[in-house]
Amino acid sequence: MKGVILAGGSGTRLYPLTRITNKHLLPIGDRPMVAYAVEALVKAGISDVMLVTGGTHAGEFLRLLGNGHEYGIDRLAYAYQERAAGIADALGLAERFVGDDLVVVMLADNIMERSIKNSIDRFIVKGSGAQLLLWEEHEVNHLQSLGVAEFDQDGNIVNIVEKPSDPPSKLAVTGIYLYDPEVFRMVRSLEPSARGELEITDVNNFYVKAGKASYDILEGFWGDAGESIDAYYAVNDFVRANGANKG
Ligand code: G1P
Repeated sequence: MKGVILAGGSGTRLYPLTRITNKHLLPIGDRPMVAYAVEALVKAGISDVMLVTGGTHAGEFLRLLGNGHEYGIDRLAYAYQERAAGIADALGLAERFVGDDLVVVMLADNIMERSIKNSIDRFIVKGSGAQLLLWEEHEVNHLQSLGVAEFDQDGNIVNIVEKPSDPPSKLAVTGIYLYDPEVFRMVRSLEPSARGELEITDVNNFYVKAGKASYDILEGFWGDAGESIDAYYAVNDFVRANGANKG
């Protein structure tokens, strides 16, 4: 199982905090944000990791994480995304790194209270398809800024709607995705969305429509610290009071 941490993007929702740095380098608790994604992977037993970033601050990730050994990573590879063309485009850069393995993809602004080890272990046993990590959210306006899953009567996901005006359920799709290597064939077949990006929700919907997507519901707190300045501080307050990635 390989790990891919996506830490690119222009971070415009956190302007002006991100005018002079990448959002994933901003502090959360006692560390730069990206260190929590690294910790989540290492605690789940993944030590073969690629970090994908872009923009003018890419070198800072190398200065922070180095070869990864200090953080418990055996092999840390880096890829550079030449323009902010979406999450799925960034994932495509990891194709040769992942090879024939399973992969866990993490958006580096997603912070969890609890370790994701159990979900990853279950996916390794499953061995193919996709497994999404969902999170229950009751606020409609928050759901409207996320991907939201739609279910049939048996509880199977039938669709994921990105930033829905009328959310089809209370279960948001977080930025932690478990895939088999088929994911790269799907990434290559994507067309840019209306905002000109290759969307990870389109990738997930390929798996959903093929009947190959399962899911887990995250326990404890989950937050996307890149959503807004308010969300950034809410995640920060939570982590300072309660910690993250706990076993
Ligand atoms: C992305 C995904 C969205 C998901 C969110 C989680 O949104 O497109 O489906 O719910 O990450 O953090 P973005 O942060 O790019 O708006």
